[in-house]
Amino acid sequence: MKVKERAMTKETDPPVARLRAVEKAYVEPERGDAVPVLRGVDFEIRAGQSAAVVGPSGCGKSTLLNVLGTLDQVDAGEVELLGREATGLGPAELAELRARGIGFIFQLHHLLPQLTVMENVLLPALAAAAGDAREGAEQRAVELLESVGLAERASWKPARLSGGERQRAAVVRALINQPRLLLADEPTGALDARNADRLTDLLLELPRRHGVALVMVTHHRGQAGKLDRVMEMRDGKLVQLNGEGSSAPAAAGATDATTEEAISQQA
Ligand SMILES: Nc1ncnc2c1ncn2[C@@H]1O[C@H](COP(=O)(O)OP(=O)(O)OP(=O)(O)O)[C@@H](O)[C@H]1O
Ligand SMILES: [Mg+2]
Repeated sequence: MKVKERAMTKETDPPVARLRAVEKAYVEPERGDAVPVLRGVDFEIRAGQSAAVVGPSGCGKSTLLNVLGTLDQVDAGEVELLGREATGLGPAELAELRARGIGFIFQLHHLLPQLTVMENVLLPALAAAAGDAREGAEQRAVELLESVGLAERASWKPARLSGGERQRAAVVRALINQPRLLLADEPTGALDARNADRLTDLLLELPRRHGVALVMVTHHRGQAGKLDRVMEMRDGKLVQLNGEGSSAPAAAGATDATTEEAISQQA
C-alpha cells in the first residue's frame, strides 16, 4: 500500500498512545445513575505494533476506541497521544491532533451517501489544516483506492458498493492523512471469512511496513490472533490474553507476499 514509509519503533520513542488508569461512565438516561464502562484501563501502543481488543457486546470496546481517538472525554485518568497529554487540550487542538495523527474505521462505516467514493475518502484531508496532510491527498487517494481494488469505483456512490467494498473505502478514508494511530472498530464485521482475512492482512501491512500503531476491535478470535497482542475488556479493565512481551513488530516483509496477494485478489 502506498503510504509514506516510516522508521520502525525504537524503545526510546514515546508511545503513540497511552492510557493510564482511565475511567469512563455513562449516565443512564431514565434513572440518571452513572454506569461505569471503563474502570481503570491501562494501555500502551508504540509505532509498528498492533493490538486486538475482544470482549462481549456492550463491554466497552467502542468506548475504549473513542477515548483513544479523543472522540470521548474520560472521567479520570490520563490519555497521552502522539507524545502529548490529550486530557488538557481544547476542542480545536484535539480536532487538529485527530486530523493529523489518527485514522478511524468506525463500526458502521459512516460513508456519506450523497458523496462519491473519491469525495468520501478525501473528506479527512479537507478537515486537516493546510500542509502535509493536504498535500498530495488526491494522488494518495488514487493510489490507495487502487491498492484495495476500488480504482474503478472512485466515482460511484456508496449505495452501489457491496459491504466489503464499503469497508475498503472506509479503510482508504482512514489512511488518507497518513495517520500514526489507526483505530479500527470491527472492520471485518460485515465480511465473510475469506474477505475478513484479506482485510485484516491489508490492515496489518500498516504496522509491519509503515510503522503505524494499529488497535483493532474484533469478535473474531481468528482475526485477533494475527495481531501482536490480544487484549480482552473484562469488568471495565483490559486484560492481555497473549503476546506477552511481543513489543517488537514482526520482521518487515514477513507477510508481504500474502498481503500483496490479498490486495491483488481484491482488485
Ligand atoms: N453515548 C452513550 N450514552 C450512554 N451509554 C452509552 C453510550 N455509549 C455507550 N454506552 C453504553 O456503554 C456500554 C459500552 O458500550 P460500547 O459501545 O463501548 O460497547 P462495545 O463493547 O463496543 O459493544 P459492541 O460489541 O456491541 O459494539 C454499553 O452498555 C452502552 O450501552
Ligand atoms: Mg462496539
